[in-house]
Amino acid sequence: MTETPHRSPVSLSVNGRPYELDLDNRTTLLDALREHLALTGAKKGCDHGQCGSCTVLLDGRRVKSCLILAVAAAGGSLVSIEGLAGDGDDLHPLQSCFVQHDAFQCGYCTPGQLCSAAGMLDEVRQGWPSLATEDLVAGPDGLTDAEIRERMSGNLCRCAAYPHIVSAIREAATAASGR
Ligand code: FES
Ligand code: FES
Repeated sequence: MTETPHRSPVSLSVNGRPYELDLDNRTTLLDALREHLALTGAKKGCDHGQCGSCTVLLDGRRVKSCLILAVAAAGGSLVSIEGLAGDGDDLHPLQSCFVQHDAFQCGYCTPGQLCSAAGMLDEVRQGWPSLATEDLVAGPDGLTDAEIRERMSGNLCRCAAYPHIVSAIREAATAASGR
């Protein structure tokens, strides 16, 4: 009888660097990052897709990495909090706004909040509506606080830094749209 293979080679681009991994097929993307690549920025909060602390960008879209098997992400291009700002010492504009607006307390949820905010602002730029969208053609100009809250609702913060997170994202969006 032939045994079913339970490991697979997985190629991933993470923060612009290529990686070749040999993983148990049951390894989640979050565990691949944390346990196999030592990228511990993405946090394991609930491990059930409910808190958003593990959010990363996969091929430009925000995903909850605890819900995705690494084998399913093979060939993908991933950005985690460690790579959000790109090369160099400068912070990503969202990171600067989070600092300026004091948008974190313990900071546990912050990497996921930042990756989610980056993905969310890109969705807005592309004209994707949310449940709170009132004007479909307004684009970034229509980014109300209600919109930000709705679009960020998959990311929980147990310290309840929400008002500051909203104001940080609003400032980053405003700066990006040149207003
Ligand atoms: S750890 Fe992934 S959503 Fe909570
Ligand atoms: S700052 Fe502590 S969980 Fe959000």
